[in-house]
Amino acid sequence: TVLTVIGIVISYLIGSISFSILIAKWVKGIDIRNHGSGNAGATNTLRILGKGPAIAVFLLDIAKGVAAVTIGSLLAGGEWTPVLCGLAAIAGHNWPIWFGFKGGKGIATTIGVIASLAFVPALIAGVIAIISIVITRFVSLGSLIFAALTPVFIWLLDKPMPLLWASLIICLFAFWRHRSNIVKLIQGNENKLGARKG
Ligand code: G3P
Repeated sequence: TVLTVIGIVISYLIGSISFSILIAKWVKGIDIRNHGSGNAGATNTLRILGKGPAIAVFLLDIAKGVAAVTIGSLLAGGEWTPVLCGLAAIAGHNWPIWFGFKGGKGIATTIGVIASLAFVPALIAGVIAIISIVITRFVSLGSLIFAALTPVFIWLLDKPMPLLWASLIICLFAFWRHRSNIVKLIQGNENKLGARKG
């Protein structure tokens, strides 16, 4: 319906608000995309600007996902609209209309979306992802594990079909956006959390 389309457009526009780009510009006057991994996300903000700004970016990017799902529920509800709005927010984060379509990898926004739509699968996948990050210190690996495990738990816990489909697309988004990380992980030169060099 029209309301669904409106919700998708609004969600994409909200997702396009790239908080790492904005905060890096405000705090340091730089384009975060020219530093570190070049990614417009919380991990790279941590690398370049430190903990405070990184936590702010992480929470605000999560909030975009929560906002999109909420808008979808309020506008039209049903099984599809909130899910499609969530997908649109992640797409906005990855390919932001306000910043030349060069954004982030979508994980924080994905956390907001999945946690809003399927809290328990998000929680289990999240705990496993955090454990892998603590052990390996590769945030990208944890992100990929989170993206890959959410469809599994959504399926195991018998969540609605639209959600399963969306989580599979979200997983594809994540792997696509982490292409360079995957190459580095395989080659053994991926950035470790806490390491100084970008
Ligand atoms: O969610 C992004 C993270 O998985 C990787 O970020 O900057 O290390 O490429 P980065």
